Amino acid sequence: MSSPPREQRPITLLKLAEKRALGEPIVMVTAYDHPSAAIVDDAGVDVVLVGDSAANNVLGYRDTVPITMDELLMLARAVRRGLKTPLMVGDLPFGTYEASDEQAIATAHRFVKEAGCDAVKLEGGGQMAQRARAIIEAGTPVMGHVGLTPQTATALGGYRAQGRTAERAKQVLEDALALQEAGCFAIVFEAIPSAVSELIVPKLEVPVIGIGAGPSTDGQVLVFHDLLGIYDGHAARFVKRYANVREQMVAGVEAFAEDVRERRYPEPDHEYTMAPDEAARLQELLG
Ligand code: KIV
Repeated sequence: MSSPPREQRPITLLKLAEKRALGEPIVMVTAYDHPSAAIVDDAGVDVVLVGDSAANNVLGYRDTVPITMDELLMLARAVRRGLKTPLMVGDLPFGTYEASDEQAIATAHRFVKEAGCDAVKLEGGGQMAQRARAIIEAGTPVMGHVGLTPQTATALGGYRAQGRTAERAKQVLEDALALQEAGCFAIVFEAIPSAVSELIVPKLEVPVIGIGAGPSTDGQVLVFHDLLGIYDGHAARFVKRYANVREQMVAGVEAFAEDVRERRYPEPDHEYTMAPDEAARLQELLG
């Protein structure tokens, strides 16, 4: 069976709303540099998130908390240069938006002005709705993020599923409704029981993009390094590996190292040539 024709025009917020209305799943993936952006663009995804998960996936931090705005901006600029069609969302790093509306607006504007992001994402429910509203009123679209919010995982009792009791599940809905009311164009649900998503997604009007939130969300997001098997550490339950790229990378570099050590590389095809008379003249010149 052939796949449907690829969207060639830039994905807009309207297009995402249409997809939800038509029941067409939304595909979102993270990217943190130019090659990964070009790959996800070629693959035809709808939304690209320059996630703060760059902290652990490309910068070697233990979690997402330490990454700075300057670090993420440099990565976002590289992603921008690799994208043509998908909507590009910059993830507000921990500590760059919580303190005040002014701080949140200034950070969001940096993503738009300095990296060309189309929108930003922030973590947190009702308590962050006012920050979302302020950013939106100042001109930048916002994606919300509820359930497991890694920036504040310690306060949530660690990296674990959220909304597992009826009361906590209701709280997830209230958080999502507050973000929707503030004007968010979409909301990420992370690590939430499928039964909860099934009951609360229909109560929302904006697209819900799930990561570990079951099949009844309007779309799914995975981290580039997780889905391609580039990251070899512990993977969350919701990760499905579609390739084993790290294994292939290690094998490729090992093969190069062996060729160098055995003097099998470079081969004649990899060499530059010089006309024999020039080589003879050079020999003369060098004595
Ligand atoms: O930073 C990230 O990768 C994210 C996704 C898990 C949605 O926020």
